[in-house]
Amino acid sequence: MTSVPGPGPRVLIVDDEPSMRDAVSEMLQTVAHSVTTASSVSQAIALLSTTPVDVVLSDLYMPGGVGTQLLQFTATRNHDPAVIIMSGKPELADAVASVQMRAADFLMKPFSRTALIQSVERAFKSVQRERSSRLLQVDGHAKLLTAVERASIEAFIVALDAAEPDTCIHSLRVREYTMHLAELAHYPESELVQLNYAALLHDVGKIAIRDSILDKLDPLTSEERDEIRRHPIKGAEMLWQIDALRPSAAIVLRHHEHYDGSGYPDGIKGKNIPFGARLFAVADALDAMTSDRCYRSSLGYALASAEIQRGSGTQFDPEVVALFTQVPELKWLELRERADRTATQGMTALLQPFAGSISRLISFNSRENPPCADV
Ligand SMILES: [Fe+2]
Repeated sequence: MTSVPGPGPRVLIVDDEPSMRDAVSEMLQTVAHSVTTASSVSQAIALLSTTPVDVVLSDLYMPGGVGTQLLQFTATRNHDPAVIIMSGKPELADAVASVQMRAADFLMKPFSRTALIQSVERAFKSVQRERSSRLLQVDGHAKLLTAVERASIEAFIVALDAAEPDTCIHSLRVREYTMHLAELAHYPESELVQLNYAALLHDVGKIAIRDSILDKLDPLTSEERDEIRRHPIKGAEMLWQIDALRPSAAIVLRHHEHYDGSGYPDGIKGKNIPFGARLFAVADALDAMTSDRCYRSSLGYALASAEIQRGSGTQFDPEVVALFTQVPELKWLELRERADRTATQGMTALLQPFAGSISRLISFNSRENPPCADV
């Protein structure tokens, strides 16, 4: 396995010929984020089961298997990653069969570097679009959005989620937890989509915070703390610009309010805080406490659960804490794993260009957050 630093797709090259693997790897050095190689279909499937990949370049005929088996494999995963079939003995029937099985392209060997790069870039864009489309669905029901709304939401998602799957998936986990609590609470079905966007985009306002504050390692001054504490307002203002996200803006605005009125930006309390924001608060705390931070390891579920129950009536709505305690640890773990899978399959490629800013957001949260809240 070789790794080539840089932006672009994570590519898996599958070919039984070492010289071909080397040549294709060399040609993709300047455009791929990383290049992994496999010498057989079985090795490729094993790698795909454990390693995030955006584009597979597979030889068609190899000892022990054919490249189209990878298309069968990816068909079980929403055709993700994209698969490009390469062949040195191209037959029309092979090309047709590959396309029918949703190959992203069919390349005849030998091919030029330009042709290879164009094909990989097209496949990468295609898989990014598909992932983005899946992320805009809630429980399989796509909301009807205008093209502008869709593009805006995608841009926010791109800006707010992770290029580093191990550390930057907070928002996806919080979304899973929030939506599960919402289900238990019989949250109005017609408002679930908005809650979903709010949980996913809760910290979008930090995009508007100065880098010098987000990057600061020393303790913040009171002015700097005031500025960072304006991020719910800034986030709500951003979402308010998009018709489809206006209901989410109300939740984002209140995502740091506390049930007893000790939160911010306005210190409102109790039922004056939107119910979605009260659900979100518990979900956010759970992920904050059960995730490793730069300054500490995960506190573990038992301690996190105890802390959330201790915050009932002060930081958290007692009604939501009661729902939280109904859920067994195993269920939270299942939801967490689902979010992690989404991050692996869907988010990271979208976020590559924004990795720096997202890492800053996450590291800022990690540094400043007390166990039960982010900033
Ligand atoms: Fe926040």
